[in-house]
Amino acid sequence: MNEGIEIRPRVDGDVDACARLLVEVHERDGYPVEGVADPHGWLVLGDTGRAWVAVVEGNVAGHVGLGPAGDGGAVELWKARYGSEERPFASIGRLFVAPAARGRGVARALLERAVSAGRRQGRQLVLEVMEKDRAAIRLYEHLGWECIGRLDHVVGAGARVPALAYALPG
Ligand SMILES: CC(C)(COP(=O)(O)OP(=O)(O)OC[C@H]1O[C@@H](n2cnc3c(N)ncnc32)[C@H](O)[C@@H]1OP(=O)(O)O)[C@@H](O)C(=O)NCCC(=O)NCCS
Repeated sequence: MNEGIEIRPRVDGDVDACARLLVEVHERDGYPVEGVADPHGWLVLGDTGRAWVAVVEGNVAGHVGLGPAGDGGAVELWKARYGSEERPFASIGRLFVAPAARGRGVARALLERAVSAGRRQGRQLVLEVMEKDRAAIRLYEHLGWECIGRLDHVVGAGARVPALAYALPG
């Protein structure tokens, strides 16, 4: 564990705090681009999804999710580059850190947990990030993720936001 940062599985009782945090992050960073009209809904995981929270000084200060990656998007770009893949794909997402807790390794610790869970499941890991989210892009590249192409992230009634797809080698 990084000093002062606890990473643990998200429980139902964390969701209100995560939703409040998401609204704060959206105000500052415009993440997520879908907006935060329904932050609880945005945090809902599918049946096979998993999520973790970071706790710093007793407060929920960050969040990451891991779930199956559907066809299209990053998976299509991965297959175009590397051909077919026997392993199932999983996608990392819903990553955000409280502005007050940034720059001390919280996102790195969250990602490490999600990556090790995905690898234990034998999955090829991918993710998508908006081109505007430069801090996140630097984080992924710093941690060894490889950019595998560009795509448009479709929001709401069809607005397109330029995005990049990344995969974790190995
Ligand atoms: C991106 C984000 C999650 C990073 O959180 P964080 O806890 O501050 O990141 P960490 O402290 O773990 O940083 C780890 C590495 O990422 C890179 N990094 C993170 N933030 C950075 C920034 N603002 N500028 C440059 N590099 C940055 C650095 O390489 C850093 O390593 P270093 O400290 O050894 O230099 C946070 O800024 C955030 O919540 N942004 C808004 C939401 C978002 O864009 N989510 C992306 C979803 S795809």
